[in-house]
Amino acid sequence: MARTRPGRSCPRHYRYSPAVFSRAADLEAQSLYIVGGLYGNPFALEAVLDLARRENATLVFNGDFNWFDVDSEGFGAINETVLRHAALRGNVETEIAGEDAGAGCGCGYPDWVGEAEVERSNEILKRLRETARGHPDLRERLGVLPMHLVAEVGGLRVGIAHGDAESLAGWQFSQEALRERPGHAEALLAGAAIDVFACTHTCLPVMQDFATPRGTALIVNNGAAGMPNFRDTRFGVATRIASAPSTQALYRARLGATVVEAVPVRYDYEAWMARFDRVWPASSPAALSYRKRIASGPGYEVEQAVRTGAVLRTA
Ligand SMILES: [Fe+2]
Repeated sequence: MARTRPGRSCPRHYRYSPAVFSRAADLEAQSLYIVGGLYGNPFALEAVLDLARRENATLVFNGDFNWFDVDSEGFGAINETVLRHAALRGNVETEIAGEDAGAGCGCGYPDWVGEAEVERSNEILKRLRETARGHPDLRERLGVLPMHLVAEVGGLRVGIAHGDAESLAGWQFSQEALRERPGHAEALLAGAAIDVFACTHTCLPVMQDFATPRGTALIVNNGAAGMPNFRDTRFGVATRIASAPSTQALYRARLGATVVEAVPVRYDYEAWMARFDRVWPASSPAALSYRKRIASGPGYEVEQAVRTGAVLRTA
């Protein structure tokens, strides 16, 4: 009964109907950055703030901005800054805001993620919750963050959540599920009545288009803003939606007059490695699960992420 074990389950209160997205937009933006999975990397946070500042863009943090920030000072700084912007809670924020209800990290890990990794995630979460206890005000603010948001950019309706269109920790919009069960994702999109669905949570980026009753719709999963996403790279990825294309984009799709792009989050790599190693020394759960990826990226290529047309560049 793996589904009920900590780290494997998707708690009932994580769920919502795709129909929640068929509402009037909560915010309108000329240029929007959606930043998922900062994972407590303050240098990546600095980099996305800088990107947004340059074009006066709106930022939405769609969850898991905490993870490796188990040092009290780091935790305070990340959350104070993120919470000045529009933010949604991910499974990490939801679980550290509450007491242990048996969900572990709340990741809802599918079968292809190994047992040892799930256990280490539960340990990381436990440590992070201890840190969060020292910040009761922040903990309270994290607990009341919404799970979904609707934005409007250039006439496009953009649904934003941490997981997928029916669960905060859903894996239906992971690159694996989008390849294996595109029909299910298409049905979820149609039920959400949006043009673009921006998500994160599953740790690898993907951009895939679908035919829905509204026309072409796009799922864009940014992977992680605070960790490398592609083989032998040292930058995170964020989603950008705007009228004018960015010169930095890794890949993009155009919907009408608006572009939806994956942009690199080029943070101070050396500084982040040093911070990570200090907080999570060798053989700690985070070092075992993540250090290799943080150092040089996962075994995943830009070409695998793009399921809409041409890759622009792989820098
Ligand atoms: Fe997550």
